[in-house]
Amino acid sequence: MTTARTKKLKPGMVITDDVRDIKGRLLLSRGKPIGSDHIRILKIWGIPQVEIAGVPPDAGAAPPDPIDPAWLEAARQETDRRFLLTERDHPAVREIFNQVVIYRAGRGALMPPLSPPPEAIAAPAKEPDRDFLEKFIDQDIALPEIPSIVLELNEVISNPLSSADQMAQVINKSPSLTALLLKIVNSSLYGLPSKVDRVSLAVTLIGTRELSALALGISILSMFKNIPSSLLTMRSFLQHSLACGIVSRLLAAQKTMRQTEQMFTAGLLHDIGRLILFIYFPNEALSAIHHAHQTSDCLYRVEEKRLGCHHAQIGKYLLNRWRLPLIIENTVCFHHEPAEAPDPVPAAIVHVADLLVNALGIGTSGEHLIPPLDAHAWEALELSPSCFEVVIQQTLHQLNTLEFLLPENRP
Ligand SMILES: [Fe+2]
Ligand SMILES: [Fe+2]
Repeated sequence: MTTARTKKLKPGMVITDDVRDIKGRLLLSRGKPIGSDHIRILKIWGIPQVEIAGVPPDAGAAPPDPIDPAWLEAARQETDRRFLLTERDHPAVREIFNQVVIYRAGRGALMPPLSPPPEAIAAPAKEPDRDFLEKFIDQDIALPEIPSIVLELNEVISNPLSSADQMAQVINKSPSLTALLLKIVNSSLYGLPSKVDRVSLAVTLIGTRELSALALGISILSMFKNIPSSLLTMRSFLQHSLACGIVSRLLAAQKTMRQTEQMFTAGLLHDIGRLILFIYFPNEALSAIHHAHQTSDCLYRVEEKRLGCHHAQIGKYLLNRWRLPLIIENTVCFHHEPAEAPDPVPAAIVHVADLLVNALGIGTSGEHLIPPLDAHAWEALELSPSCFEVVIQQTLHQLNTLEFLLPENRP
């Protein structure tokens, strides 16, 4: 028995271990020779490797190109600098560190620098106010309202007597939401073997809760258009959010949690409070970013010290106001302090996902250092650090096919 990369598989090889999808459903059973259709399914699902009988498919072939030692060293040094606040002896952190170095070194010159140097960020003219949350609530800023269709969807879902047809009817009222959801359903996030061209079929195949969670997360993020360019780009923020949603969903699946779709939405929306800061309070946001660089501290801690609350608490307020499910509200609220959450496991999932995505440098939500790992949260997940290699590969694969959700990179 040997491990073979999916891209090296050939028809006729025999899989010696069952291959399952994110929900634990059987994709391929062991013991049978595989065909080209099976290989295609594995690729659609982003399964990076499988166990096969006999010798490795690339035995005797030339070894893969080694990573340029100069890139490896550069990636190690850069990653080292950004893990300043994180306990490096922890097995999960050590594994993330190693995977990140390999990922970044492998991309070499393609990798953009992770964060602007402190001197690139100008100090704000005015010092921020404390007790920001009170001020924010009192000010009652004109936030965009959730589209009525999402509220309608929520109602249909919360009624146990609603049918999948009723839900499809609600979604069909919005051509743009319908088009977007069908694109997502046909992406490698779901790995469906054939194209889905109508909502009723999508509801049947992936479920009402899943589709509604997707509609919620995507609709909320698309309400916000522009972040001041002095802070960061909307594309970069959405990349960070989307990657965090994907990793959260994959970690939930590794834990065989049932509600993976809510973890996707919670990951997608985890930094929504920071989006509000960036758009409506750019001075406060700039001041916090500047201070985090100056003091080599995490941005969320600086927000708390200088504003009296951090972005996750602002996020909680918003999600509560928009009446999102409590599990999403609490997960977002406690993603930096998962041990304090009423249910620590979902918060721990997004906590670890955020750490991993920050470490990989996929987009950014303003943190220049990797947030420290809460060791208790990691223990609560009962996962092995070895899961990160597969999670990273599947995340990159899925992110690639969800590229259409990101705005163009405009100068
Ligand atoms: Fe955060
Ligand atoms: Fe984040």
